[in-house]
Amino acid sequence: MPRRALRKLDPALDLSFHLKTIDDMPRPWNTSQLFPQDLPLEVEVGSGKGLFLNSAAKQNPTHNFLGVEIAAKYARHAAAKLAKNGYKNALMLSGDAQRLFIEFLPDQSLVAVHVYFPDPWWKKRHHKRRVMNDRFLGEIHRTLTPGGSLHFWTDVRERYDEILELIATHTSFVGPLEVPERQAEHDLD
Ligand SMILES: C[S@@+](CC[C@H](N)C(=O)[O-])C[C@H]1O[C@@H](n2cnc3c(N)ncnc32)[C@H](O)[C@@H]1O
Repeated sequence: MPRRALRKLDPALDLSFHLKTIDDMPRPWNTSQLFPQDLPLEVEVGSGKGLFLNSAAKQNPTHNFLGVEIAAKYARHAAAKLAKNGYKNALMLSGDAQRLFIEFLPDQSLVAVHVYFPDPWWKKRHHKRRVMNDRFLGEIHRTLTPGGSLHFWTDVRERYDEILELIATHTSFVGPLEVPERQAEHDLD
């Protein structure tokens, strides 16, 4: 993602609830150590500045949302927005989504996974950095509940086709499915 300057954060903002690191993740996994209410959990991989997470937390108070962002300053920025809005059903993990899935998330623990506009990493030597790879898709498949969903968007046609192929090879997901218009607006909010 092209890196733009971020607004300066209010130093008085308490981020202790909304910003976590991988060391704060519960072992064994127990969401009651992260969220006040035990609600179905959705994870967003690569939250950037937290646009989706903030909108989802507001629009769906009956679910918990965990955003994972590897760029620490973006994770902090997204967490600050959640803190400002006072949402108690969403927080940010500043760290690598691959570690969260591989080391922490149990089988069938998520009702949805969201991956919006993952970095395409064009150069061949950078392909290993792509987050939507075969191993990670296997992790998404393992951690979703039966009937759970993977929401995935990209504006790069070539990557879209490649990822659909990986999904068909490494998972038993059905789709792509039509997204109701209201959901599509919500995803882009
Ligand atoms: C192109 S940006 C998209 C951000 C946001 N989803 C949006 O739609 O605006 C991709 C984001 O994924 C993050 N990212 C890349 N690899 C990641 C990983 N392994 N774990 C967590 N975040 C990752 C990047 O730091 C970046 O912020």
